[in-house]
Amino acid sequence: MVNHTICGLKLSTKDLHPSRGRDKLLEIYPFNLSNREARVPTIDENKKNWEDYHWDTHGDIWSEGWGTVDMQWYGTLLPRLHQFVPAGTILEIAPGYGRWTHYLQNLGDSIIIVDLVQKCIEYCQERFRESKNISYHVNDGKSLAMIPNGSVDLIFSFDSLVHVEEDVIQNYIGEFARVLKPGGYGFIHHSNLGEYADYFKFVDKLAFAHDALYRLRLIDHYKHWRASSMTADKFDRFASEAGLQVLTQEKINWGRSLLIDCISTFTTKNAPHARTRRVIANPHFRRESDYLRDLSGAYQLTDKQK
Ligand SMILES: C[S@@+](CC[C@H](N)C(=O)[O-])C[C@H]1O[C@@H](n2cnc3c(N)ncnc32)[C@H](O)[C@@H]1O
Repeated sequence: MVNHTICGLKLSTKDLHPSRGRDKLLEIYPFNLSNREARVPTIDENKKNWEDYHWDTHGDIWSEGWGTVDMQWYGTLLPRLHQFVPAGTILEIAPGYGRWTHYLQNLGDSIIIVDLVQKCIEYCQERFRESKNISYHVNDGKSLAMIPNGSVDLIFSFDSLVHVEEDVIQNYIGEFARVLKPGGYGFIHHSNLGEYADYFKFVDKLAFAHDALYRLRLIDHYKHWRASSMTADKFDRFASEAGLQVLTQEKINWGRSLLIDCISTFTTKNAPHARTRRVIANPHFRRESDYLRDLSGAYQLTDKQK
C-alpha cells in the first residue's frame, strides 16, 4: 500500500480507491480544495478557476467514478435524457472541453455551445472541427444574447452549473424561457446545497475536528464547491416565475450521502407534456456510479480506459 499526502491529508492507495467518491475527488482535483471551498463561487471565481485549471485530461478524469466517460454517458446521463433526444437544436451551457458535446453532436441537427471561458470554447472548436453542426460562443456567465427567441429544442448542462449561485441560475432560467421553443425541454444539473444550510452552519463550527469526524463517518463537511444559495425548490420557483414548468427534480448525492446536487428537467408552461413536478430523493447516485465503474472494468476490451 502506497501512502500519499494530498491537500494536507495523508492517504493510502486504499483510501484513493475510486469507490470512495470523496477521496477520489481529492485525488483528481490538483489544488487545495479546502481553500477553494472557502471561496464563494461567483462568476469571476468560476472564470478564474476554469481559466487556471490544467485540463490535462480534458475533464475526462471527472468520469473516473464511472470507469469511463462512455459509462457515465450511457449508464447515467442517457437513461435520464433519452426522452428528449434526438432534438432539432440543442443548447449546451458550460461544455468545458466538450465531455458531453462529444455525444450531443450526434443527437441534434444543430448544437450551440456557450461557455464563460474562452480557452474552453477554443479547445472545443479544435476538438470538433470536423463537425459542421456546432456553433461556439463565449458569454458573460449569465446571459444568452446571441441566441434568438424561441429557437432551441433542448437545453442541457451537466457538471457545471452546480458551481453557480442563485442569481446566475435565475438569470439563466429567464434566458431559457426566452430561447426555448414552445414544448422544448431543459435538463440542468445544479446545486441543492442550500437545503443543508443549517447542517453546514453547525458542521462549519467543528472545523478543528473535520478530518477526524469525517474519517469516522460522523460528518461530511465537504461542499464540493457547490453554490450554497441554490436549492431544488428555488429552481422550481424561478422556472415557474419565468413561464416554465419543472417536470422532474432528482436530488442526488455527490460525495457521501448528502443530496447536495439536483437534476431538474422542465418544459414550457402549457406544453403538451407539461405536468405537475415530481421530486425524487436519490441517495444511491454514487452507488450507481460504483456499479457502472465495476461493469466498465469487467467488460472493457483493453487494459487502457477510454
Ligand atoms: C467542471 S467544468 C465542466 C465542464 C463540462 N460540463 C464537463 O462536464 O466536462 C465547468 C465548466 O463550466 C463553465 N462555467 C462556469 N460557470 C459558468 C457560467 N456561469 N456560465 C457558463 N459557463 C460556466 C466553466 O468555464 C467550465 O468550462
